Amino acid sequence: MHGIAVIGAGRIGRIHAANAKAHPNLELKYVVDPVAAAANDLAAATGAQVAELDDVLADESIAAAVVASSTDTHLDFSVRAIEAGKAVFCEKPLDLDLGKAKSAQSLLGDAPFLLGFNRRFDPNFRKLHERIRSGEMGALETLHIISHDPAPPPLAYVKVSGGMFKDMTIHDFDMARWLLGEEPVEVYAAAAAIVDPAIGEAGDVDTAKTVLRTQSGRICVISNSRRSGYGYDQRIEAFCSKGLIRAGNVLSSTVESWGEEGARSDALQNFFLDRYAEAYRAEMAHLVDVLDGEAKPLVGYGDGIQALRIAESAMQSHQTAKMVRVDL
Ligand SMILES: NC(=O)c1ccc[n+]([C@@H]2O[C@H](COP(=O)([O-])OP(=O)(O)OC[C@H]3O[C@@H](n4cnc5c(N)ncnc54)[C@H](O)[C@@H]3O)[C@@H](O)[C@H]2O)c1
Repeated sequence: MHGIAVIGAGRIGRIHAANAKAHPNLELKYVVDPVAAAANDLAAATGAQVAELDDVLADESIAAAVVASSTDTHLDFSVRAIEAGKAVFCEKPLDLDLGKAKSAQSLLGDAPFLLGFNRRFDPNFRKLHERIRSGEMGALETLHIISHDPAPPPLAYVKVSGGMFKDMTIHDFDMARWLLGEEPVEVYAAAAAIVDPAIGEAGDVDTAKTVLRTQSGRICVISNSRRSGYGYDQRIEAFCSKGLIRAGNVLSSTVESWGEEGARSDALQNFFLDRYAEAYRAEMAHLVDVLDGEAKPLVGYGDGIQALRIAESAMQSHQTAKMVRVDL
């Protein structure tokens, strides 16, 4: 059994806490959150204790810290946990600032550090990755990634999120790197606040089309919106030299009705908590493999740095309306 603590008792912290509690090789001991109601509710739901971070890090029975708090805390908490000898499973993104994230690379780069790019653990996208790599459709040439949220997050979240490219598109930048198997070297992003003017007034965007080009000349197009009106739209199409390999949306059931007026299928899964439930469980199981010494983190600190580099270049492209070279 490995002792574990969850820092941050919000939307994603609650998922990770439930998965840690359900895993037979983990003992969820502590929940940390300055908002007493959030910490108390999660502790009551899981049987963990509410604690301060210093006490958690001083407890030798704690093997790993799950950093699921607001983005501006990720780097500091990860550094403190690694320095205290704990493994870290940290939510994306690494930090709001690439320079700051780079400055911690010597400490965290080779540490037992798993970054929460959960889509790499999704069974459909894993199969897509395998089939692209198998070469059954020839060589991958271009990629379409569609990632539209059902509705914008609360404005309070937007304001501390680091902006759409670092908060939302960062998942797609990681998927692009993983599926293409090489680094994007150029980025062009056209973005706007179309869904909610308040997001624009907060200095962010809610809609973007981003084009990435790799060193070998392959191209990826990412479509993002903070509003779909039809559920959580998560599709990827890989255009290869001999054909197409694609992963479609996951519906809330397979039931369809067919009548005179046409066919109707069930709705898309609503949002990430449902769509990626299995991926979050697989991430936690992978953390246990890392703690057991049976695996190295599948997604590490270097992946977080690369994704942040692309995100900062995309932001610069949006601001200058120019193609931007990614500084590798
Ligand atoms: N991988 C994914 O699918 C995914 C999904 C959602 C969010 N996230 C990431 O997870 C992080 C949290 O997002 P969320 O949606 O759960 O946000 P949230 O606002 O619901 O929860 C964040 C929690 O962190 C707590 N917190 C803030 N400062 C803290 C501190 N100093 N110590 C401990 N707790 C603190 C807040 O009180 C809050 O309860 C963000 O960085 C976000 O980018 C990842």
